[in-house]
Amino acid sequence: GTALFGARKNARGWDLTDAADLAAIEAARAPFAEALIDAAPRLAGRVAGGRQLAVLNPATGALVGHVTTAGLPDVDTALRLAEPWAAAPVERATVLNRAADRLEADFGRIFALLAREAGKTLADAVAELREAVDFLRYYALQTAQPHPARGVFACISPWNFPLAIFCGQIAAALAAGNAVLAKPAEQTPLIAALAIDHLLAAGVPPTALQLLPGDGAIGAALTRDPRVNGVAFTGSTETAQAIRRAMADHLDPTAPLIAETGGLNAMLVDSTALPEQAVRDIIASSFQSAGQRCSALRCLYVQEDIAQTVTEMLFGAMEELSLGDPWALATDIGPVIDAEAQAGIRAYVDAARAEGRVLKELQAPGQGTFVAPTVLSVRGIQDMPREIFGPVLHIATFKATEIDRVIAAINATGYGLTFGLHSRIDDRVQHIVEGIRVGNTYVNRNQIGAVVGSQPFGGEGLSGTGPKAGGPHYLARFTRAPTPDAVP
Ligand code: NAD
Ligand code: ALA
Repeated sequence: GTALFGARKNARGWDLTDAADLAAIEAARAPFAEALIDAAPRLAGRVAGGRQLAVLNPATGALVGHVTTAGLPDVDTALRLAEPWAAAPVERATVLNRAADRLEADFGRIFALLAREAGKTLADAVAELREAVDFLRYYALQTAQPHPARGVFACISPWNFPLAIFCGQIAAALAAGNAVLAKPAEQTPLIAALAIDHLLAAGVPPTALQLLPGDGAIGAALTRDPRVNGVAFTGSTETAQAIRRAMADHLDPTAPLIAETGGLNAMLVDSTALPEQAVRDIIASSFQSAGQRCSALRCLYVQEDIAQTVTEMLFGAMEELSLGDPWALATDIGPVIDAEAQAGIRAYVDAARAEGRVLKELQAPGQGTFVAPTVLSVRGIQDMPREIFGPVLHIATFKATEIDRVIAAINATGYGLTFGLHSRIDDRVQHIVEGIRVGNTYVNRNQIGAVVGSQPFGGEGLSGTGPKAGGPHYLARFTRAPTPDAVP
């Protein structure tokens, strides 16, 4: 087992500036450009299912396939069939690594589905597949835990990382030896079913890994059921709070809830920052993935002295962004996930427009659920009511004497996920970084795209319970290890 538990490398991924890599991707994904893809619950071989729903491409409205959702009786069936994964740690590691290999080899189908079902650009899809593979291999290294598995874990995931976060939660729970009931987001069941099929084909026993596609009611049923011994959840803060309440009423009081939730993330750019670099990182942090990252920049604080330079440069750089079908290589920004998300973000921007706070807005394509990248003025983060999960950036200015007030305002939101800082004054960097209470701080770079194994990811306060995903302490939470915060 030493080779198995020895050195690990993150996946190489694909180089989208390399013609050979691009040609290989184009050839591999072409067969999946239009093929209809169906999915159904995976219930240890039992036939199951409630309603059949169409899955539509958010950029084009085209049919991607159909999903048969799980019904509430299927939750009961899955719980009756669930059996923790009793194989030896070395066997679990072998299977998880095999699943990673299988996902890596199926890149064409995966990139196609990430574009068509989740609106992911190719650059985002490449990063997502890498992260999924890295999670599998990283947790595979840690299967030999000092404490036994909890039993049955519910893994409830969001649509914005429908492969990486979905696989990350499952890989951790399985690596520790649990049985998993996976409840993917209702918007992205097809990519979830594909991942489950790779895990099962790699050798995870069907009683140790079942899939329950469906809406929040399926997730709620799982978290209410005392046969569930722990919940791994990633999604909105409000849903995490609902799950906490459900677990308090019905579960073993020591059953863990691992929740990774939303953020109101800020970046501070002082007058010593390099404007070109700051602007590049502001664009990536706020608009990449159409702003649909929990880590995304929502509130930019620019020091007054350079505010005009930075905003002019930013608005110019925004003009270069190309919005459109994420299948096209030229596309920088795809659609938001669905019409409901689009309507909510647009209503928020319209309200800001009525107050005269729109500073810059691009043009969105006429079809599909697009939201144009938009910049709003704001006095400070204290005036932002909640996380707006799309390409909407707020800008405030500050004076050098106001830095501590800005730090206090950011901390007072109660969220604590990511924070970005552009400054060339070491003492100031240290002072600010020590003062801001967030999970992940990034200095003189963008604030998205944490890397498994080297940048464990997770927030504090309203942004999550910890331990951080992709870090050394995560797996223990899926076992009976005594931890100081073991009581929900
Ligand atoms: P969401 O909370 O609406 O849904 C997440 C999952 O919870 C879905 O599978 C949903 O069906 C399920 N669900 C809904 N109601 C439930 C209930 N009552 N009980 C149990 N499960 C229920 O979130 P979303 O819209 O899918 O994702 C976007 C949110 O996720 C954003 O707030 C974002 O910041 C957050 N997010 C956080 C992280 C992180 O690592 N901190 C990562 C990605 C996304
Ligand atoms: N881990 C993801 C990021 O860092 C959410 O952007």
